[in-house]
Amino acid sequence: MNTTTPVYIAGHRGLVGSALARALTACGYTNLITRSRAELDLTDQSAVNDFFAAEKPQLVFLAAAKVGGIMANNTYRADFIYENIAIATNLIRAACDHGTAKLVNLGSSCIYPRLAPQPMKEEHLLTGPLEPTNEPYAIAKIAALKLCRCFHEQYGCNFVSAMPTNLYGPGDNFDLTSSHVLAALIRKIHDAKRDGGPVRLWGDGSPLREFLHVDDLADALIFLAENVDAPALHDRVADLFVNVGSESEITIRELAALVADVVGYDGEVEWDTTKPNGTPRKLMDSSLVHSLGWEAKISLRDGIRSTYEWFVDNERS
Ligand SMILES: NC(=O)c1ccc[n+]([C@@H]2O[C@H](COP(=O)([O-])OP(=O)(O)OC[C@H]3O[C@@H](n4cnc5c(N)ncnc54)[C@H](OP(=O)(O)O)[C@@H]3O)[C@@H](O)[C@H]2O)c1
Repeated sequence: MNTTTPVYIAGHRGLVGSALARALTACGYTNLITRSRAELDLTDQSAVNDFFAAEKPQLVFLAAAKVGGIMANNTYRADFIYENIAIATNLIRAACDHGTAKLVNLGSSCIYPRLAPQPMKEEHLLTGPLEPTNEPYAIAKIAALKLCRCFHEQYGCNFVSAMPTNLYGPGDNFDLTSSHVLAALIRKIHDAKRDGGPVRLWGDGSPLREFLHVDDLADALIFLAENVDAPALHDRVADLFVNVGSESEITIRELAALVADVVGYDGEVEWDTTKPNGTPRKLMDSSLVHSLGWEAKISLRDGIRSTYEWFVDNERS
């Protein structure tokens, strides 16, 4: 692998894919291949096959997926399982058939069992029932990990997966009907500063969460692409994936205070304790990826600051 290797980023316009495109360019990769969904629908098996036959990417990042919040996951259950399985099967099959040298697939911490021990280790996958609201999505993402493993075992493909924790960063979704917690806090606190407080947040602020800046994730994905191969990983984790987290925990209350500080909001924060808190603690054990030689670098304060700058520059409301 070198900087002229043809690299295909599936999902290059998404949160993860766009961070990867920035990071690969910064690392000197000059041969990036991208297609929007309108140009290449990854659920279309023959179109994906034709694309791989023509372009022959040597390194593939599978960062395309149908993603969404609890509401979308629970409402469009058929679309979430069908589209995500289709994207993974089409891409992984085509990568194998057309000689892709390395593929890095994206998993997600939400595919661990609902009551997994904390912090969650790679060995906890498939040890208990999944969260019912996103079970179709999780099953599709687990199928993708298994595809990578089975294509390695049967055909010798060098396909591995990363399991990121909660992500945030430039390009995040700040729509309150579908955003994740950190983007929602930025949006709510920004709006409260603009309109005059108070800001009203769900629960009592006690849950502990972990966050990873998407630029740190992109760095980890390139690290895995360049340094961590399936045969060596197989002895450590049979399903060929590694957790990628920051291992720094923060309560939602502390997080709200940090966002308020970055945004410059000094008004009141009210906690609506009639609304659910969610899981008390959700943390990944990232000791495996640390032992392989990778660690997160971006502090939460710096990451929130750059994300807020992006939000202010890109949101017109
Ligand atoms: N965001 C997080 O907190 C988080 C955490 C852990 C893991 N992950 C994982 O990271 C991956 C990427 O997530 P993300 O947050 O970057 O998602 P995202 O911002 O929604 O981006 C997803 C990308 O996939 C593309 N896509 C979806 N369906 C497609 C299709 N049928 N054909 C072609 N392209 C298609 C989308 O294209 P369009 O732009 O054209 O719609 C978009 O560019 C997912 O596997 C997710 O599970 C995300």
